[in-house]
Amino acid sequence: MVTIKPFGKLADGTEVDLIAIQNSSGSTLEVTNYGACVTSIKLKMADGSIRDVVLGYDTPAEYEADKDTYFGATIGRIANRINACDDTGKPGFILNGKTYYLADTSGNGASLHGGVIGFDQKVFDYTTGDDYVEFKYTSPDGEENYPGNLTLTVRMTFGGDNALKIEYDAVSDKDTICNPTNHCYFNLAGHDSGINLKHKVCIDSDQINELLQNIVTGKISDVAGTAYDFNEPHEIGERIEDSHYQLVDSKGYDCNYILKPNPTKEIRQVAWAESPTGDVRLNVLTDAEGIQLYTGNFLDGRKGKGGAIYNFRNAVCLETQILPNAINMPHFPTSSVIKAGEHFNSTTIYAFDVK
Ligand code: BGC
Repeated sequence: MVTIKPFGKLADGTEVDLIAIQNSSGSTLEVTNYGACVTSIKLKMADGSIRDVVLGYDTPAEYEADKDTYFGATIGRIANRINACDDTGKPGFILNGKTYYLADTSGNGASLHGGVIGFDQKVFDYTTGDDYVEFKYTSPDGEENYPGNLTLTVRMTFGGDNALKIEYDAVSDKDTICNPTNHCYFNLAGHDSGINLKHKVCIDSDQINELLQNIVTGKISDVAGTAYDFNEPHEIGERIEDSHYQLVDSKGYDCNYILKPNPTKEIRQVAWAESPTGDVRLNVLTDAEGIQLYTGNFLDGRKGKGGAIYNFRNAVCLETQILPNAINMPHFPTSSVIKAGEHFNSTTIYAFDVK
């Protein structure tokens, strides 16, 4: 059952909505058309209580004021960081012989999550069905200096099985690049429960992208024998203080796992996370080839929903995507280029198992 109510106003007076999808299990997904953003996932627990497992805010004004967490938002056109494509050191890319420079949002030669005003800050049009909402945003040619009028459609379905299915479709009138993701911060013990480090995580991957100061170098590292190996489940906190230079640089986990080859683009389970007591498990299924594990290392005591305080490492993000900076890394398996008129499609499912 879908219900729609006003969420509030943005700074320019635009009204945005809060759309709730209640499923037959008594759980509710709430989303807003500001940033096609997941504001809550309220799970009905075995004892009948309700547990909201994603971080967020109570008003659109708070989402608008926050320029760096991307709580729950749809990220576009390009998730993650794009580096320099030439010796200017400016982030950008070369497509069909033309260079497109992007905003240096990190201050160290990288453009993060779509630029200064990414899709997380756009108002999407939407339609709804019995158990879904479908968002649509057309990014004009040249927005954030990306070529082509690009239309991104994001359908979020929340069925009785407590699975949030996110389907992306993108098409442009000129060749361009696109790599959308969703940026939910999960805390399976409850968004306001604080410590996240006792969550167990498992990721079906043997390799990560090597980083230098959070920027993909293009080299691939094996996880075997390192604190990055989650092939067997580990608590997030177990090895987070390890001396691996990437963990030190990123103040925790913030890196992209290369998932097992998937030539037929099957939607397969690639990761899971479990609350400290094991009463909520999140299974992540996707057809994407990469997943970013980010442990909220830049959270800094922000005030969120209902006055909850979100501190350092209080959440885990599992962001599915094409490998970061793929446009500048021709040896990566999948390119983020979409040709004029061709559709990019990808699906990710966040399936919750409540015990
Ligand atoms: C990135 C982090 C970044 C965070 C929030 C994540 O996807 O990997 O480096 O700080 O988003 O901005």
